[in-house]
Amino acid sequence: MNTSFTDNYDKAFLLDTMMGPNAMRITEELAGYLPITPGMRILDLGCGNGISSILLAQKYDVTVFAADLWISPTENAKRFASLGLDAKVYPFLVDATKDIPFAHEYFDMIISVDSYQYFGNNESMLPKLLPFLKKDGLIAIAVPGFNQDFPEGQLPLEVKPFWTPEWNFYSCDWWRALWEKESGITITALREMDSCKQAWDEWLQSPNPYAQSDIPMMQAGAGKYFNIIQMIGIKK
Ligand SMILES: C[S@@+](CC[C@H](N)C(=O)[O-])C[C@H]1O[C@@H](n2cnc3c(N)ncnc32)[C@H](O)[C@@H]1O
Repeated sequence: MNTSFTDNYDKAFLLDTMMGPNAMRITEELAGYLPITPGMRILDLGCGNGISSILLAQKYDVTVFAADLWISPTENAKRFASLGLDAKVYPFLVDATKDIPFAHEYFDMIISVDSYQYFGNNESMLPKLLPFLKKDGLIAIAVPGFNQDFPEGQLPLEVKPFWTPEWNFYSCDWWRALWEKESGITITALREMDSCKQAWDEWLQSPNPYAQSDIPMMQAGAGKYFNIIQMIGIKK
């Protein structure tokens, strides 16, 4: 019997709204490592079409600030309202590299699924985000990456023809070294996520043209070098 929220969710809706490996499944695993309680206020940064936000609101009864750059808040508002979530999930247009329009010490948690690699792969993003967390608040990230470090220019043959620098794929060690430089957090978890293969398999079933164009890469065997990296830090 399926007990996972994601397994029991409307699959057609998920396939239509995915923007990468199934973010609802990844968020569900990530959330299993977080002390989420009803009524918490969570920033979902880089939420895309918001399936991570929907999981958090529906499964955990929290209030979500669903912030994204590429997907308009108007489109997300319609989606959240259609699910009866307009009083639980609030859409915002936010570019994390610019001014972040929220109050300091406002969020219990910041989560980010399959998006932090685009704006957080540098030493400045963690110190920029931490002021928005309450004391002892958590930052919880899931990013696709590589399961090992490859020397410059020496990607495996299965990956090389498909790879572009925009992927921003790194290893667990790379992310750990970056996060250990930040004195304002203690890392409480940094691991490869169990849902990687299933989340990727589900993404390849999506009609999204980017998903369809990932199929040859996965058929070539690139997936054996992929992981999804979970990082959780607590604000000191
Ligand atoms: C691959 S999509 C994933 C979306 C969603 N989290 C999911 O997994 O379905 C990457 C997301 O990162 C967001 N993103 C990229 N750069 C960003 C930035 N500077 N500020 C906020 N969001 C950003 C994009 O808007 C996009 O929705």
